[in-house]
Amino acid sequence: MLVIGSDHGGLELKKAIKVALASRGMDVDDYGTDNDNSVDYPDFAEKVASAISQGSAERGILVCGTGIGMSIVANKFPGVRAALATDEFMAQMAKEHNNANILVLGGRVLNVDMAVRMVNVWLDSAYEGGRHQLRLDKIARLEEAVRNSKT
Ligand code: RB5
Repeated sequence: MLVIGSDHGGLELKKAIKVALASRGMDVDDYGTDNDNSVDYPDFAEKVASAISQGSAERGILVCGTGIGMSIVANKFPGVRAALATDEFMAQMAKEHNNANILVLGGRVLNVDMAVRMVNVWLDSAYEGGRHQLRLDKIARLEEAVRNSKT
């Protein structure tokens, strides 16, 4: 299952991405927002990132104006690797090297064609593992250490 969310700044791009995902035959759950009213991006990042963190969804897409706020929030959730990408190469690397489980995009940064190409390359690329896994393991240990230091 792929979950998607946006604020008002990412709404139009999210709609276009959903059309592209539907044309791939993908099952998508949209956690909002669904209209132009001004909303707070942390509320939607939280919904998508907690679904990934808790394992109820495998991957997600978040869109706000720049993508910056969404990525800041999403990366606070354990097990989330949210990658803010601005071109196809970054989207490809986000999967191949970082195994990003959330792709973050800026609705005021990208045009629809570019964003759809980025989503497709992120979905179609394969995580390479190997030396990259050692780095992801380090991130997991850091998460654990931070969690333990708070208790
Ligand atoms: C909303 O105006 C805007 O701040 C938001 O969409 C996003 O760009 C935040 O990072």
